Amino acid sequence: MTQLIDTYGRGHRDMRVSLTDRCNLRCTYCMPHDFAAWLPSKDLLNTDELIEIIEVAVSQGIDEIRLTGGEPMLRPDIVEIVSRISSIKNAPKLSMTTNGLVLAKLAKPLVDAGLRRINISLDTLDRDVFKKMTHRDRIDDVFAGIAAAKEAGLLPVKINTVLLRGVNDGETVSLLKWALAEDLNLRFIEQMPLDAGGIWNRDQLITADDIFSQLSQHYELTPVEYRGSAPAEEFLVNGGPATVGIIGSVSRPFCGACDRIRLTSDGQLRSCLFSMAETDLRSILRSNMSANEKTEALVSKFHSTVKAKLPGHGINDSSFIQPSRPMSAIGG
Ligand code: 5AD
Ligand code: SF4
Repeated sequence: MTQLIDTYGRGHRDMRVSLTDRCNLRCTYCMPHDFAAWLPSKDLLNTDELIEIIEVAVSQGIDEIRLTGGEPMLRPDIVEIVSRISSIKNAPKLSMTTNGLVLAKLAKPLVDAGLRRINISLDTLDRDVFKKMTHRDRIDDVFAGIAAAKEAGLLPVKINTVLLRGVNDGETVSLLKWALAEDLNLRFIEQMPLDAGGIWNRDQLITADDIFSQLSQHYELTPVEYRGSAPAEEFLVNGGPATVGIIGSVSRPFCGACDRIRLTSDGQLRSCLFSMAETDLRSILRSNMSANEKTEALVSKFHSTVKAKLPGHGINDSSFIQPSRPMSAIGG
């Protein structure tokens, strides 16, 4: 049972861990193509520091860890990180969100190290649209990564897709058709205001309702009853067993059931993607406290961060302010 309960009674058992803010793509909704404000390497948590924080989180009831980025596979120690998390006492469920570019090489070693689930981001099936959306001509690497993930047994492989109006929103149906044929579990995610370039515009948003009605013209979608804390509303496609997910982060917020906290690659704990405040864990790890004092201080910071969690992200409030860090530096 989690001990990380906030003032609204929400228990927290899922921690998203960003391993780096760097990426080998430049998705327009995430970072500008000429983005250069990277975190200095010395500020990133090293392997030992990461494991120390994850152990404390697990001791407080976190039982699921999702590794994210930037692109988590750019960490040279990625296989070691997975292997060490897998050998923690009461090892948490471990998954990863990746753009898949280097997955062809790493899928097998990661599975051998203990990885069990994977989400691969892919917004289009068209090479030119991919190039336009990511500023890199690497769609074939993603397809190879998806094939390797299946081959290595990371099933079901989930695909995350963000639709942008006038860019890839004509592909909603063809993406689902492809996912069904390839036995992939597709989830559409509404674009959130998290890009470093400030391009988000509510009027241009492709909403969960838009996606539902586009798909409904070609498929019969039946809601799967239980949603729990999962953000995706799942639908059986043509009676199932295949499903498609629609994540209405903006138009249908699920903050009331949120059970997540986030650790940035530079060791800052956040209670929400949209938090304006962060708790500095790195400075505790790098202080001259004794090992016991460090653990106690970390435990206490986990609790105070969760206690300060707000009821919702507030994107739909007129007072909403976008966090200063882009998605790539918080972790998706
Ligand atoms: N809104 C919604 N999803 C986003 N992602 C990145 N930026 C945004 C955004 N602004 C998604 C990526 C990836 C995951 C890490 O988060 O597409 O699937
Ligand atoms: Fe990289 Fe993911 Fe951001 Fe795209 S969304 S630039 S793949 S971190």
